[in-house]
Amino acid sequence: MTSQTQSLPSAFIWRRLHSLMGLWLVLFLIEHLLVNSQAALLLGDNAQGFVSGVNAIHNLPYLSVIEFFLLGVPIAIHGIWGVKYLLTSKFNSHRTNGTAPSLEKYGRNHAFTWQRLTSWILLIGIILHVAKFRFIDYPDSVNQGENSYYFIPVTVDKGLYTVAARLGVTLYSPDQITLERKEFEDRQDEQALVVASQTFPDSRVYDHQQQVILTSAQSYQQKLQWLEVLEKQKVERGEVVAVAKDFGTASVLAVRDTFKSPLYVGLYTIFVLAACFHGFNGLWTFCITWGVVLRVAAQKKVLGFSWALMIIVTFLGLAAIWGTYWLNLKA
Ligand code: HEM
Repeated sequence: MTSQTQSLPSAFIWRRLHSLMGLWLVLFLIEHLLVNSQAALLLGDNAQGFVSGVNAIHNLPYLSVIEFFLLGVPIAIHGIWGVKYLLTSKFNSHRTNGTAPSLEKYGRNHAFTWQRLTSWILLIGIILHVAKFRFIDYPDSVNQGENSYYFIPVTVDKGLYTVAARLGVTLYSPDQITLERKEFEDRQDEQALVVASQTFPDSRVYDHQQQVILTSAQSYQQKLQWLEVLEKQKVERGEVVAVAKDFGTASVLAVRDTFKSPLYVGLYTIFVLAACFHGFNGLWTFCITWGVVLRVAAQKKVLGFSWALMIIVTFLGLAAIWGTYWLNLKA
């Protein structure tokens, strides 16, 4: 057996794995943009569809493990092998100086080029997008028994006050945060309760007074914990901290804040156009790669289907970008 025949299977397996991961990412893209679109399209419902969709995902058990294996690993496999294929592929859908063949007239050849050009946009876009929404703008949280609080700094605008009231969110300016601290430090009798609660011996006999003191001391410590997270938020000039009771609401405020900026609207428009072209043109090439459609007529039908899905999902994605602030939650 030659070394070439030995190495063939692994190259083949990786190519197929790259392809399968691509299909998986298309399914994720559809789900992601469908949820996002509900921050904008159902006008006047305060983005409730988005909030409950995001909360449903956020409340999944073992979310970090799910994110790692169902998103991180597929993106890494598809991305790393994608870059490998990018570095070895050549385009010839443009006019050349004659030193290389030029095949301008074939639509599918242009699509081949764009599949690769959009890969670069996605590579950079996905890294920046994850950094922004999964790490930098990811709401901080405090869980206290039945209540949870989510903290996100946002820039002030006139509409924020009414939107915050509609979403049940409280806004804290730096001055109000200082005031909260001052009021908290004035609660000296409760501080005394905390000290008293630490001296109770462990007993198997129910004591109502102990219950009152221990629960008051606990609520004091919870307020302290809440305050410390509030104070930890990096509030820039012109910003306030929004405190929401669920993750989805804090997220919709982060999205609203992002898409107030025309620069972000522009960058995300390019990102969504690239992702939808790449994903749904890829859906068609996936069907060819796996032999799902063999006859030319069937291939044409699947191409039409892929374009139709591309248009619908692009619309959903652009709606979230253009509509979350400018249409639905401006005021
Ligand atoms: C991390 C950035 C990405 C890179 C570098 C990348 C790269 C590539 C490349 C080079 C191809 C063509 C492979 C070939 O035919 O030889 C491709 C195909 C594909 N990509 Fe991506 N891609 C990325 C992200 C995505 C995303 C986010 C999606 C989903 C929306 C996706 C879905 C697909 C699909 C479905 C295919 C077709 C697979 C096939 O023909 O069997 N890719 N990708």
